[in-house]
Amino acid sequence: MKVTDTSDLWWKTAVVYNLDVETYLDWNDDGTGDFQGLAHRIDYLAELGVTCLWLAPFYPSPQKDNGYDITDYYGVDPRYGHLGDVVEVFRTAKDRGIRVIVDLVVNHTSDQHPWFKEALKGKDNHFRDYYRWRDTPPANQAENAFPDVEDGTWFLDEKSGQYYRHSFYRHQPDLNTANPEVRDEIAKIIGFWFQLGVDGFRVDAVPYLLDDDTPDDPYDFLRTLRRYVGRRSGTGMLLGEVNLPHDEQYEFFGEEDGDGLTMQFDFVTNQALYLALAREDARPIAESLRSRPVLESSNQWGNFVRNHDELNLNQLSEEDRQFVFEQFAPDESMRLHGRGIRRRLPPLIDGDPRRLEMVYSLMFSLPGAPVLYYGEEIGMGENLDLPDREAVRSPMQWSDQENGGFSGASKRKLVTAVTGGGFGPEYVNVAQQRHAESSLFSFFRALIRTYRNSPEIGWGEFSIVEQPFDAVLAHTMRTETGQLLAVHNLGSEPHTVPVALDDLEPGTRVVDLFHDHILEPDEKGRFDVPLDGYGHRWLRVVHPGDKRLT
Ligand code: GLC
Repeated sequence: MKVTDTSDLWWKTAVVYNLDVETYLDWNDDGTGDFQGLAHRIDYLAELGVTCLWLAPFYPSPQKDNGYDITDYYGVDPRYGHLGDVVEVFRTAKDRGIRVIVDLVVNHTSDQHPWFKEALKGKDNHFRDYYRWRDTPPANQAENAFPDVEDGTWFLDEKSGQYYRHSFYRHQPDLNTANPEVRDEIAKIIGFWFQLGVDGFRVDAVPYLLDDDTPDDPYDFLRTLRRYVGRRSGTGMLLGEVNLPHDEQYEFFGEEDGDGLTMQFDFVTNQALYLALAREDARPIAESLRSRPVLESSNQWGNFVRNHDELNLNQLSEEDRQFVFEQFAPDESMRLHGRGIRRRLPPLIDGDPRRLEMVYSLMFSLPGAPVLYYGEEIGMGENLDLPDREAVRSPMQWSDQENGGFSGASKRKLVTAVTGGGFGPEYVNVAQQRHAESSLFSFFRALIRTYRNSPEIGWGEFSIVEQPFDAVLAHTMRTETGQLLAVHNLGSEPHTVPVALDDLEPGTRVVDLFHDHILEPDEKGRFDVPLDGYGHRWLRVVHPGDKRLT
């Protein structure tokens, strides 16, 4: 795809913020967050500076998998409000310049979805072929996504004697995306939400949803979806969840044509980040970034620190994973599915503000677009008393009032418990941080503003800058009109980092975008960057005559 108008490719430089309506703000005090509550927090999100809101599933659901088990793709769980309230949120967000994307969960439905209920009626039912059936499970069954909960991916329907596939929980039967009718249903769902005003979709569990039972190239389905998205919304995008090695992710982007998924989360770099933090050594991140394929110019990486699931470390070696576990999840109860950590970042590093700022500065400086998970901007922790992944899904902490200002309902009526302890609302909340200059929230505002003023990060050509310290990552992004150098220290020792940039004109200055500091490179483009322990710097290369604000 040729880039003609870069402003259409808004995701290249988006700041995405993910939240679940259920746990954000409860406006009617019934104990569950709702769309009216969210509508009242759009100004907060605008103040923070995010440019794209990603809404976790809010559709009718038995809620056995946090709403990723859907019974109606066209509706809203009545506890959150109705479609009118949803449109109100879309409209308010648009008015404040914030795009909205929603979860598209079409690998599976809930077993309570009317299609599956019909399918269960018998082999001749019209909806039978909406799902994947077999008389006997295949000899080499793929591993279930929750291997310690489900012992396989095929479950016997006793009535018909056939097995249906479920890549996730057994109450989530996989849709048969090879069936043209199912593909039409998916297109209709996408069309519906575009018509209501969304700007794109976070596509759930993409590798599972591509059919491997049909003769055609599985990526053709993605290409068809992307083309359809283009037709329905010229500026719509698909942000895919593909937790695979970089070279395999490249295929999901559509390789050099870039006509598959528009964006993908970079799970590889996310896992490398935690290994790097645990070792206080930046080299795993450098290695991961070097292994990233260069994308077609309209595609993008989504960088993140945490999300709503366990911190999945499945792509690390066994030894590295155990090392990260020992550092960051010393207690068995902090681990999940043998591969992940059910915690948020701040408690892992004892809430050290230097390290927290360094991690987010690093994440925002990586080529791509940053994706935040609600509460990260204030440094929320997890609630390990809650089961499984619920630990990282506790209500947003607005104030030190009852229930953290999330809801006026009595504690026992809350949809999920508020976090306690040192990261609870008494110590960590929006009200306390919003007006404090030295707070994490204020840091995030500055970080987001600076990212938005630095299109090099989303658009630039990336390279790692050689320097002598293992704990330090220095990287640069360069477009025809600008260059940014980012230097991060993963270790506690301060360093003076010697770097050299090519092709600098005489008189070029290097301006620190966070600290009032100007460096003067010598005639060979060399200069020293002083870094505190866990320090971070973003440096703009300002050529003589450059009129950009720094
Ligand atoms: C994705 C979601 C996860 C969900 C699963 C099944 O991995 O992130 O929360 O359980 O898909 O839909």
